[in-house]
Amino acid sequence: MTELSKTATGETATAKAPSAFLEVRDLKVHFPTDDGIVKSVDGLSFSVEKGKTLAIVGESGSGKSVTSLAVMGLHRLGARGKNVRMSGEIWLNGKELVGASPDEVRKLRGREMAMIFQDPLSAMHPYYKVGDQIVEAYRVHHKVGKKEARKRAIEMLDRVGIPEPAKRVDGYPHEFSGGMRQRAMIAMALVNNPELLIADEPTTALDVTVQAQILDLIRDLQKEFGSAVIMITHDLGVVAEIADDVLVMYGGRCVERGAAAEVFEKPQHPYTWGLLGSMPRIDRETSERLIPVKGQPPSLINIPSGCAFHPRCPYADIPAENVSRTVRPELELVGAGHWSACHLSAEDRERIWTEEIAPKL
Ligand SMILES: Nc1ncnc2c1ncn2[C@@H]1O[C@H](COP(=O)(O)OP(=O)(O)O)[C@@H](O)[C@H]1O
Ligand code: SF4
Ligand SMILES: [Mg+2]
Repeated sequence: MTELSKTATGETATAKAPSAFLEVRDLKVHFPTDDGIVKSVDGLSFSVEKGKTLAIVGESGSGKSVTSLAVMGLHRLGARGKNVRMSGEIWLNGKELVGASPDEVRKLRGREMAMIFQDPLSAMHPYYKVGDQIVEAYRVHHKVGKKEARKRAIEMLDRVGIPEPAKRVDGYPHEFSGGMRQRAMIAMALVNNPELLIADEPTTALDVTVQAQILDLIRDLQKEFGSAVIMITHDLGVVAEIADDVLVMYGGRCVERGAAAEVFEKPQHPYTWGLLGSMPRIDRETSERLIPVKGQPPSLINIPSGCAFHPRCPYADIPAENVSRTVRPELELVGAGHWSACHLSAEDRERIWTEEIAPKL
């Protein structure tokens, strides 16, 4: 157990480095706005080991991207980023990043951690040649000449499966197809062999075939480099395909997490049941409509009292004494390494899962 000593203000005075490669503890990212404080991430903890993939899932607006940007230190950048309140701890390879200087985090970004996005143009500049951008990314962290860096860029383009890399290295992003542009961005993210790769919905904009190729690529590269991967997605199919562990986010918090196999086999949280029910299945008639989780995601300015999911939860009235509406459920151990935050008793969860949910999936 790692000991944390808290000061009177609740701030950590002496935090010890955890053994996990990446460990996030009680992360909060709040944005004060004219309408109120947006609590995008509100007390999130998780860890990822090298060589493993953690999938973070949840509907749009649940705080997934803000979490990844916080790990990358990108909230300090840009005009909007100035207005952010961040607390908690982010330990990467023994270094704490929330309290680190922007300069320290910048040094780690690219070299120790890198990120790929849904839209490659948010990482690549449209007016510069793809190869020059990869060269630049490499030379920020390596004292090498342009020629050597260019060789490395061609190598990387080849590695991510771009045909004729020696020629494509001089192309502009708009001359690449969507899938090829995605590959080029991955090449740029991986040029420095980062030990942590965060992929934020990397395949959402791509068609199914290209999607599968990109996931294969990420998996191969991970095997080759032994990196830790955080895969952010709203697609549980992607999770089943690629993740070792899964964390389900709702309203800026974790509602369930555990080994992916365990969470798929025996999900414990009503929100996860809802997500599973909305998952497309190959063996279903295509005419059969997907059932999305009923209702709207919560406002992060006025997060519902008690369990944030209670306005949408079909089982909110089962736990006694209105507790779903008044008391926020904390994460509890519900299986080996499996955590869930819900007031339902183990018996009720078991009954609902086996009698109502599982037969319909
Ligand atoms: N700079 C910002 N200022 C105010 N609100 C923000 C800012 N960035 C993100 N948010 C809000 O935080 C919430 C979570 O966003 P995000 O992490 O992008 O969700 P997800 O990636 O899960 O779809 C959203 O409600 C979004 O509007
Ligand atoms: S705590 Fe209550 S409202 Fe929240 S998920 Fe569990 S049963 Fe539903
Ligand atoms: Mg997002």
